[in-house]
Amino acid sequence: MTIDKEHFTGGKTEGGITSSYATDDGVKLKVPYSFMGSIYDDAERNAAIAAMAQDTLTMGPKTQEFQNKFAAYHKVKYAFACSNCTTGMHVMTQVFDIKPGDEVIVTPNTFVATSLAVLKEGGIPVFADIDERTYNIDPEEVAKKVTNKTKAIYVVHYGGLMVDMDPIMEIAQKYGLKVLEDCAHAVGASYKGRFAGSIGDAGAFSFHSLKNITTCGEGGMITTNHDEYSDPIQNLRCMSNNVAWANPQNEWHFGDAITMKKTSPIEYWLPAHFDVNPYKGHWGCNYRMNEIQAAVGCCQLDKLPMLTAKRREIGHKITAGLQDIDGIEPVYEPADRVHVFHLYTLCMDEKKLGGNRDEFMRILYEEEGVQGILHYQPTFHFTGLRLMGYDPNQCPKASKFFYKRELNLPMHPRLTDEDIATMCQAIKNTVAKMHKRHCKA
Ligand SMILES: Cc1ncc(COP(=O)(O)O)c(C=O)c1O
Repeated sequence: MTIDKEHFTGGKTEGGITSSYATDDGVKLKVPYSFMGSIYDDAERNAAIAAMAQDTLTMGPKTQEFQNKFAAYHKVKYAFACSNCTTGMHVMTQVFDIKPGDEVIVTPNTFVATSLAVLKEGGIPVFADIDERTYNIDPEEVAKKVTNKTKAIYVVHYGGLMVDMDPIMEIAQKYGLKVLEDCAHAVGASYKGRFAGSIGDAGAFSFHSLKNITTCGEGGMITTNHDEYSDPIQNLRCMSNNVAWANPQNEWHFGDAITMKKTSPIEYWLPAHFDVNPYKGHWGCNYRMNEIQAAVGCCQLDKLPMLTAKRREIGHKITAGLQDIDGIEPVYEPADRVHVFHLYTLCMDEKKLGGNRDEFMRILYEEEGVQGILHYQPTFHFTGLRLMGYDPNQCPKASKFFYKRELNLPMHPRLTDEDIATMCQAIKNTVAKMHKRHCKA
């Protein structure tokens, strides 16, 4: 594939699927897939340089500011910055006290991270099939999967369109389950006037390079309205560093023999610099965010209304451009939700086209120069899960109806009207070529 300098994303990199799809295959691209999901300008560059001059480069004033701004924007009580969405979900899995053998109902139509957070604590992801129109987890399927081992439901607001949260919360309430919103795609998205990350017990956001806002390529945020989660989240995000919940009497224990009471708030070094204690048996780790990322995050939040408006405008223009193409199903946006178009996902009707998605994708890429990619292979297809005994044929809507028919177009806020027109024309041409090859009169 050859692409002009402006679009160059490099050759094969260590990040694999998380940083580039570039291959040296001689294809000339008109609209490549971009791994930068946002827009940076002097605001981000100056903020990063200023943060680099600070005395502390991690978890300092900029992190605090980013957290406050993020909480205010999404109308939640607490926001805690962390190293990425995966670690944020891992922290919440520990806070929910998911232990070996506990079941967590998860969507299969997601990045593997959603299930990894559960697997890391020995929990069992139980997959519930998706809705055919939104591609999000279907509350009716969730209800069918509840057992006496179920502890939580992890939903993903796929592509930037929020899950039908009211029935999910009703199920959770009925059976006493926790709800985690994987908001990796959904910064600024809303459902019936409520923001992503503000409805479940907690939300986890991603600021990876591809996402609608990014903190220098990696980053995350945990949101919650629960006062009682505030201390454990901070403990688990940072080395099981002791905070009030673990040490209500302000007592410090050293082995069995010595118990000391910290008496003076002034003598901060006594009896030790800090204490360490796991939360309900779950050990914390280093999942912190640094100050440069947080400073850039503050600028990105200032831009978020503009970035969302651009994505929505682009999304709607693509939908309009694909309206009358028989065999192509554009994005669906229910009236009660604000879709933030992290992805633009097409589904195709193989019968009407006469061929399958892979052929469509090949023509679109090789002959028309538009680089589509796939989000997502159902999580239970991966070797590690198959070896655990997961049936690869479960959740037929996710694995057949959706995964075999879907394709994601390039989608980022820098797409021009010309790019959009090129993509829509390329899709029309691809459909026409498939008809010609397969549907000869
Ligand atoms: C749905 C979903 N969940 C979680 C993640 C993980 O995010 P991060 O890379 O910030 O850990 C991603 C990243 O692509 C994602 O798309």
